[in-house]
Amino acid sequence: MSTQGLLDQLSDVGRDRRRGGYSRHAFDPAELELRTWFTEQASRRGLDVETDRNGNLWAWWGSPGQDALVTGSHLDSVPGGGAFDGPLGVVSAFTAVDALRERGRPPRRPFAVVAFAEEEGGRFGVPCLGSRLLTGAISAETARALKDPDGITLAEAAAGAGLDPERIGADPDRLATIGQFVELHVEQGKGLSYDNHSLAIGTDISAHGRWRFTFTGQGDHAGTTLLMHRKDPMLPAAATVGATRIAAMDASHGRATVGRLVPNPGGTNVIASSVDLWLDARAEDEYCTRAMVEEIAEAARSAAEQEGCTLQITEESYSDTVYFDRGLGQELGRVLGRVPAIPTGAGHDAGILAPHLPTGMLFVRNPTGISHAPEEFAEPEDVERGAAALADVLEHLGS
Ligand code: HGY
Ligand code: MN
Ligand code: MN
Repeated sequence: MSTQGLLDQLSDVGRDRRRGGYSRHAFDPAELELRTWFTEQASRRGLDVETDRNGNLWAWWGSPGQDALVTGSHLDSVPGGGAFDGPLGVVSAFTAVDALRERGRPPRRPFAVVAFAEEEGGRFGVPCLGSRLLTGAISAETARALKDPDGITLAEAAAGAGLDPERIGADPDRLATIGQFVELHVEQGKGLSYDNHSLAIGTDISAHGRWRFTFTGQGDHAGTTLLMHRKDPMLPAAATVGATRIAAMDASHGRATVGRLVPNPGGTNVIASSVDLWLDARAEDEYCTRAMVEEIAEAARSAAEQEGCTLQITEESYSDTVYFDRGLGQELGRVLGRVPAIPTGAGHDAGILAPHLPTGMLFVRNPTGISHAPEEFAEPEDVERGAAALADVLEHLGS
C-alpha cells in the first residue's frame, strides 16, 4: 500500500466537526482508535507491539535490543489540527518497513517503529509528554497529577487505557537501547516550496515553552456593576495578549502566541471572576525566550495591578534550543543527496531525545506552509518521496 493510502485510512478518525480538522488527544476515543490501527499495521508486518509504561507504542522488527534503530513520530493532534502532523511520520515508517522488505534489506540491528504519546500536549498541557517521561525530563509525580480541562488526571486517563499509573516515569533501560532515532515530519512552514525542494534535513529546534497566566478579579453582574467598582480580569488578560506581538518583535526570531484563553465562569452577562490564558513563547535561544516572556509578564503585572486583579504566572513546560546530531545529519545528507538542511520552530519528540542519543529529522514539503490547522498539506507525490527517502535512510543506518 502507498504511504498516502495508509494515511487515508486515518482520514475519518477524530474529525472535529465543530472546530474543523482533527482532535485526537491522549487516550481519548479517537486516539485509542489510532492505537488500534497502529497495532494492526504493525502486526500485519510481523512487528511485535508493546505499550511502554508511559503509553508510547513500540513495534519491534525482530527482538528488542541494544543500539536499536528507531523511527516514528506521534498520532495525537492539536485541537482542530491537520492530517499530517505526527501521523505522516508513523505511516511513512510502516511503508519504509515494507520497502526494506521488498528490497530484501531487513535491518541488521534491532529496529522499531514508535508512536510517542501526547506529543502535542493537547489534553494534559505538556508537549512531548511521552518522550519527556521516557527520558525523565518530567517527573512521574508531576506528570501523574497533570489534569485535562475536565479535571481528569493523567494517572486516571492512563489507568482507563489499561496502563498502571504507578509505573509511569523515566525508563532508562528502554532509553539506553535506542542507538539512533530518525523522525519524518511534515514541514511546518513554507520554505521548501520557495526553494522547490520536496525534502529537507532538520538542523535544530528553537527554544520554546508554555506559561500559564491566571488573572483573578471579582465576578459580578455585567449590567449593574459600576466601572469604578470593577475588578475585571478580562482587561489585563486582553492587555497581555496585546503585549505578545510587541515583545515578539523585540526578540530574536521571537514568536509569542496566546491560542487559549478561558474566562471563568464564561457568561455573556457576567464579569469574569478569573481568566486563564496560556502563552506559547519561542525564540532563538533561552535568553531571548525568557527575556520575551519577562517583557510580556511585566505588561501583564502592570495591567493586573491597574485593574485591581491578582496574577499568577506558572511555567508549564520549557525546552531549550536543540541541535540534532551533526554526524547523523551528514549521513542523512550523503544518503539523500542535494537536500537543504533547515531549522524548525516546532517542537518534536526528536528534540526531547536529542540530548540523549543521535537524533535526526526529515521534513516533507508542505505547500500551504500551514500547520496545526486543517489547511496543513503535503502532495501525494511528496508523501511517497518522503517515505522512500526514509526507507533509504533506514536501509543505510540498518545495514
Ligand atoms: O508545538 C509544537 O511545536 C509541536 O507541534 N508540538
Ligand atoms: Mn504539532
Ligand atoms: Mn508533530
